[in-house]
Amino acid sequence: MAKDMDKKANISFEGQSLEFPIYSPTLGPDVIDISKLYGTGGVFTYDPGFTSTASCESAITFIDGDKGELLYRGYPIDQLAEKSHFLEVCYLLLYGELPTNAELDDFENRVTRHTMLHEQMTNFFRGFRRDAHPMAIICGVQGAMSSFYHDSTDISDPWQREVASIRMIAKLPTVVAWAYKYSIGQPFVYPRNDLDYASNFLRMCFSVPAEDYEVNPILSRAMDRIFTLHADHEQNASTSTVRLAGSSGANPFACIAAGIACLWGPAHGGANEAALSMLREIGTVDQIPEYIRRAKDKSDPFRLMGFGHRVYKNFDPRAKVMKQSADEVLGLLGIENNPTLQVAKELERIALEDDYFIEKKLYPNVDFYSGIILDAMGFPTTMFTPIFALARTVGWIAQWKEMIADENQRIGRPRQLYVGEAHRNYVDAEKR
Ligand code: SDX
Repeated sequence: MAKDMDKKANISFEGQSLEFPIYSPTLGPDVIDISKLYGTGGVFTYDPGFTSTASCESAITFIDGDKGELLYRGYPIDQLAEKSHFLEVCYLLLYGELPTNAELDDFENRVTRHTMLHEQMTNFFRGFRRDAHPMAIICGVQGAMSSFYHDSTDISDPWQREVASIRMIAKLPTVVAWAYKYSIGQPFVYPRNDLDYASNFLRMCFSVPAEDYEVNPILSRAMDRIFTLHADHEQNASTSTVRLAGSSGANPFACIAAGIACLWGPAHGGANEAALSMLREIGTVDQIPEYIRRAKDKSDPFRLMGFGHRVYKNFDPRAKVMKQSADEVLGLLGIENNPTLQVAKELERIALEDDYFIEKKLYPNVDFYSGIILDAMGFPTTMFTPIFALARTVGWIAQWKEMIADENQRIGRPRQLYVGEAHRNYVDAEKR
């Protein structure tokens, strides 16, 4: 961060004029450091939803919402989606540089050797109803991991932080796959060390003991790309949740469980499940105008799921890659005439020509097309957000490690604008 000592911001009110430093980033807007505002001026700032608030200093991911650009450690997401693969992206996010072949081999070997769960953890799955939402299961199992891996919960020990990080990146695919298997009453399939990360996950989801299973390379490449596209995204709601949980010193397994819980919401990671359900509800292209009308009607709570974003005021670059991948995967699977894909493309075309969406700069986001690919792969809609959580685990961990390593790190503790009752005295029940 560039601390240009000459750049200052002045805030004047009630006869006082306060001066605050301005910091200039590598990319993006300058920030005004108002951390001393309450101490010097006796007032808080007010920014519900944190639209104008930088919560931290980070070197991991950058989004240019106006250009529709996403960089992981400076590398554009479309280049990584085309030329890299998920575990190499994990290495980049965690350690800041693309690995040499030797570094990548070592990293992949360490992840591969941690993909199994403690056998006793199978009991957790069996405690849930069969129709439990997989997000409920993975949130519970993830939090319970801290009770099995006591040798990697001390966050003050860099070695334990590293082991916990590798364990979670390695084990989430197994947890998510087993949540799926449990929901359909099929036996758990154990990971295999001779398969790559995405192929291992697909095999754990779709193979059965009764027959051999060959991973379709088209699907494993598409799965790997979906993981890469979801890996990290600056200080989104779930990442901010992980940082806030981590700021109290909570163990890493608990922090990631908090991130999973936050991601579940339909305004965030739950939107991919909601978007496919919406496309199915629309059903045919001729129904689109009615849904566009509803999305614009303030009295109607309906929103176009998979559209809009707090930061992107242009195309979400991930949606562009996802749309190309949907065309490729469905074409290679011989289902390019998939009615849901046709509705999605026509809905996008109509919305992007509509003044409401143009004026509010609402474009398809990462969740608009991802469900179509996952559905074509054979996943039920309830598995879409767990897959998002699986992929985002590396981003949550990278952001959590960055926060823990920051010597200025303190517990996050926002204040408030109190609008409740002023001081009053207790009234006995008979006098109320
Ligand atoms: C993700 O933060 C991240 O980076 C998240 C994420 C990540 O990788 O971590 O990118 C993943 O969560 C993507 C977003 C998935 N959510 C959805 O697709 C749900 C539908 N989208 C919306 O709910 C909404 O767009 C949000 C939640 C994504 C953004 O909400 P904001 O920034 O608070 O914007 P807003 O709700 O204030 O909307 C601004 C205006 C409003 O109209 P006005 O009140 O100004 O008249 O745009 C309208 C909204 O009504 N609007 C929509 C809309 N999204 C916003 N109108 C119709 N359909 C929509 N989808």
